[in-house]
Amino acid sequence: MHKVQDVGAPRMGRRHIWDDLTSEAMAAVTELTGPILRAASAPDGYTSQIAVRLDTESGPVFVKGMRQDRDDVWTQQREAAVNPYVVPLGPRMLWQVTAGGWDLIGFEHVDGRAVDHSPASPDLPLVVETLTALSRIRCPALTLKEASRRWGKYLDDRADGALFKGSALVHSDMNPSNMLTGETGTYLVDWPMATRGAPWIDAACWVVWLIFAGHTPHTAEQWAAKVPAWATACADALDLFAVAQARYWQETVDAHANKVTLKLREAASRWAIHRHVFP
Ligand SMILES: Nc1ncnc2c1ncn2[C@@H]1O[C@H](COP(=O)(O)OP(=O)(O)O)[C@@H](O)[C@H]1O
Ligand SMILES: [Mg+2]
Repeated sequence: MHKVQDVGAPRMGRRHIWDDLTSEAMAAVTELTGPILRAASAPDGYTSQIAVRLDTESGPVFVKGMRQDRDDVWTQQREAAVNPYVVPLGPRMLWQVTAGGWDLIGFEHVDGRAVDHSPASPDLPLVVETLTALSRIRCPALTLKEASRRWGKYLDDRADGALFKGSALVHSDMNPSNMLTGETGTYLVDWPMATRGAPWIDAACWVVWLIFAGHTPHTAEQWAAKVPAWATACADALDLFAVAQARYWQETVDAHANKVTLKLREAASRWAIHRHVFP
């Protein structure tokens, strides 16, 4: 088998590159894709152990994967299970294969760039449109995280998490690197944290990322309110969700303090304070 060298982003954190895959894993992928002409790791993303564009004779394919011995390899299965329900908002999964110690998924490659959340960005209406379509996806009957438990655990009274319940499919990771926009449209990638919950939750998660990108809490909420599902959230639910987000990001800082997590914690706390609730 001819091996190509990864010409994309370098190894970083937990991210490996194509060259690190075992020969068995590479051979299993090649069997599915045909000869690989070029490999380029994505510069963005945090959780997956490999995220790489492969160019093949029949076009590009995007491969995302985890080593099979990792505790969080379940995220591969989750991503595969939700895929049929998120297409065409998310790219279609083409195949999944386990070989040579790796669990790998091939997706249609999206030609696009990450959206820009900053205050003057022309992308903001596109994000609103995408979150509106997302809020309308009904949650499939799969085993998924439940919003009431996932964020209720941060509240003084966990039972208040009932306010986050709903039958929408919540993506929950509004990191701009998960929304790619290009000539063929705007797509949401990275679904392993898909959750069953209220249809306004993704807009509420977006508020934190908007503040992170330089909006005031007030303008961030104004943008979120353009997603029609936002209006279905009662004020108490939003207050408690802001508290849950602030405590969630605090927990993330406690586990991994870095510039980004510290700034996200600050953004979530500012949102909670704006809503007159104090995390
Ligand atoms: N189908 C795809 N086509 C093109 N690029 C993609 C695709 N899926 C993901 N990416 C790129 O790879 C990055 C990492 O993938 P993602 O699914 O977000 O994993 P992570 O868990 O590492 O954040 C994304 O931020 C995006 O830039
Ligand atoms: Mg991602």
